[in-house]
Amino acid sequence: LVASMEDVEETYIMIKPDGVQRGLVGEIITRFEKKGFKLTGLKLFQCPTELAQEHYKDLQSKPFFPKLINYITSGPVVCMAWEGVGVVASARKLIGATNPLNAEPGTIRGDLAVQTGSNYTVDSQDSMLIPFGRNVVHGSDSPENGKREIALWFKQGEVCQWTPAQEPWLT
Ligand code: TYD
Repeated sequence: LVASMEDVEETYIMIKPDGVQRGLVGEIITRFEKKGFKLTGLKLFQCPTELAQEHYKDLQSKPFFPKLINYITSGPVVCMAWEGVGVVASARKLIGATNPLNAEPGTIRGDLAVQTGSNYTVDSQDSMLIPFGRNVVHGSDSPENGKREIALWFKQGEVCQWTPAQEPWLT
């Protein structure tokens, strides 16, 4: 079975404020580059509250939502669009599990992030401690959300379609 143009997907990857502040921008971009995906959008950006709320609207009812919005807007993020066959699921694998403590070594979250004691918030309904994630990076969870999120975070003209001069792995 040969991959066709229809299999090419786009995903929105974002280095969160903790990733920028800890100097992990180069390391994270490198992992996606080395894997062989194509970078089509890249910028450093201070996210307004309304955009963070729109991006995470599916999590609006979660107890950690206000903290999540504060965290994402607390400093600049790096917005990226990446393209490739199967890039959405593959990027999620490179990123690793949501909670950095559960993320496998070899993944970005598994290698570069921990869960600290102050990263917990109380669920008002059942008083449970909910881990609140400073987990370095975001990746879209479906091709549909990839398109939605790229349209949300990038203005027209900021995403570049380009063709490499040769297959990127033949260097
Ligand atoms: P989610 O979309 O479930 O995870 P992922 O980022 O792996 O796709 O959640 C979005 C973000 O919300 C997550 O990266 C960190 C935060 N979050 C918490 O702070 N606590 C939680 O219990 C969950 C599930 C998420």
